[in-house]
Amino acid sequence: MSKMAGKFITLEGGDGTGKSTQARLLADFLKQNNIKPLLTREPGGAPGSDEVRELILTGDPDRWDAVGETLLFYASRRNHLRLTVWPALERGEWVISDRFADSTIAYQGYGNQLGVDQVMKVHEVTVGDFEPDLTFILDIDVKAGLSRTQGRDHNEDRFERMEIEFHERMREGFLDIAKQNPERCVVINADQNIDKVQEDMRAILKDRYGFS
Ligand code: TMP
Repeated sequence: MSKMAGKFITLEGGDGTGKSTQARLLADFLKQNNIKPLLTREPGGAPGSDEVRELILTGDPDRWDAVGETLLFYASRRNHLRLTVWPALERGEWVISDRFADSTIAYQGYGNQLGVDQVMKVHEVTVGDFEPDLTFILDIDVKAGLSRTQGRDHNEDRFERMEIEFHERMREGFLDIAKQNPERCVVINADQNIDKVQEDMRAILKDRYGFS
């Protein structure tokens, strides 16, 4: 599974870090470098996964507990990998995913305090040893990030409405993941304007893959 033709790049971070905008700009950059990108997101990105997205992201914060939620995220992830990500990588495409498994470790493992070991049990069954080639962790002060999400016109706000301590634990989770995976993860300061954040990310791609 690890020897696929394409590359798998993930964007991670708290709510309001600007991941989705940055993912789109990164896809443009790959195109400029004659690479075919596939832009996708979690939860979602495949038949079945989008329905699960609706189940998890809407409604009361206590609608699911940490275990139920983790199982749903991984059910969605399994279809995303099987039907979208793995076939694209085999075709030689570069897949950019707005969130992947680090989100479950940070949100459910740290934020909801389920613990990393518990999440990893489900991870091993669902994902095995497949992992991203490169992960950008967009980091911003929790309150600054959440204030950016205010006024967004959507009802997928179940996590945004969780208590501030939840978000603080989740941010620490992402920073721990980055420390434990220094080859794969790069922390990006998301408290900068859109162009500067993108410039920092492109600099990493230029360095790693020789893009111009
Ligand atoms: P987003 O598409 O706006 O990033 O929303 C996805 C939300 O779901 C966000 O609040 C983070 C949360 N989430 C988890 O809690 N665990 C996960 O594994 C994933 C993929 C997302």
